[in-house]
Amino acid sequence: MSELYPVALRLDGRRVLVVGGGSVATRRIPALLSAGARVRLVSPSVTGTLRGLADRLEWRERVFQPEDLEDVWLVQVAVDDPTAAQEISRLCEQRRIFCIRADDRHAASAWTPAVTRHGPVTVAVLAGGDPKRAVAVRDQISHVLSETPTAFEKHGGTVALVGGGPGDPELITVKGRRLLAAADVVVMDRLVPGLLLDELRPEVELIDVAKLPYGQAAAQDEINRVLVDRARAGKFVVRLKGGDPFVFGRGGEEVLACLENDVPVLVVPGVTSAIGVPGVAGIPVTHRGVAHEFTVLSGHVAPDDPTSLVDWQALARMRGTLVILMGLKQLPKIVETLQRFGRDPGTPAAIVMEGTTRHERVLKGTLEQLPSLAEGVKPPAVVVIGQVSEVLEHRSGAADDAVA
Ligand SMILES: C[S@@+](CC[C@H](N)C(=O)[O-])C[C@H]1O[C@@H](n2cnc3c(N)ncnc32)[C@H](O)[C@@H]1O
Repeated sequence: MSELYPVALRLDGRRVLVVGGGSVATRRIPALLSAGARVRLVSPSVTGTLRGLADRLEWRERVFQPEDLEDVWLVQVAVDDPTAAQEISRLCEQRRIFCIRADDRHAASAWTPAVTRHGPVTVAVLAGGDPKRAVAVRDQISHVLSETPTAFEKHGGTVALVGGGPGDPELITVKGRRLLAAADVVVMDRLVPGLLLDELRPEVELIDVAKLPYGQAAAQDEINRVLVDRARAGKFVVRLKGGDPFVFGRGGEEVLACLENDVPVLVVPGVTSAIGVPGVAGIPVTHRGVAHEFTVLSGHVAPDDPTSLVDWQALARMRGTLVILMGLKQLPKIVETLQRFGRDPGTPAAIVMEGTTRHERVLKGTLEQLPSLAEGVKPPAVVVIGQVSEVLEHRSGAADDAVA
């Protein structure tokens, strides 16, 4: 066999035919769609996933006919029947259309490589017709690209608000981690997963906002100023926050500050402690037949404080899950208010302290027991009120074992 000639196809707006609606088609079609291809799918039956994509496809619900090749630039044959595949391949050859075959790559005129994408960089690996080897090499390259600072990333003059997740450093998103590795400046909160900082390059300027020399009120202005100034100096600034930047993270103010100063800003969501912390502790915030809603609220303002924006009466009437962040100090008042407005004092409840970290503590009881449970508990902690607190009770040991 001669050498391969690698190319990258620009499929935007071009028609691609996929024949077959099974697992191969299910894996290939999303990538074709995200490349902008107009996908014609020909198959009498398709997987549930493909059925879900049907409104983005031209699905011909029958077996292949030669007319399906009309206006087509590329064909992916993904049928089990080698005779049918052979015939489609022959017709493609006649019409000078490249044809990828899942059944027999040696008979195909085009191959799909193993691919890994890291932001704007796409690496495609072919291993002389050995797909397992291509995948193994691809995985190694992918690992290197996600572990090492990516010198090729060009984000100078930009701010990225990145959610660092609730504590476990592995709970940052892939994109968040990649951008962090490319940062020139990292502006971090007190609650960001410490181990993420360990991975920063030595030359990265690390600014701990807890140490900025300003009082509470001025601190946010100072953070905004630092973000804008560093970006204007051409740096790539990652504003690393605990959990998700927009869940009680003041991310919105920072986005506005950047926009007001014409600094491009992007947002990378994170796993919020409101969901991730109870989840890892074996408490799902919803559960079929138990809770059809969950409400996340900040408890840092007392319920009787005139500045409180929370409708406590409405909350007490709801049956679903309440997740309270920053609620330790006001917990006795919060519990008293919920009970006074009608929430059952016997409602199962839990407190999770330092969730998703090795220091995690989970305390369980009822709504009325929360103030005594909270004695000695230090922030950060999430309070969960609702039946979901005990719904996995008999299984939590098993979950712990599985994680370990
Ligand atoms: C200022 S809020 C920021 C929330 C964050 N943006 C998020 O999405 O998780 C801080 C509060 O989040 C909760 N929290 C954050 N990390 C936590 C953790 N690892 N365990 C328990 N609670 C946590 C606590 O209630 C803490 O007081």
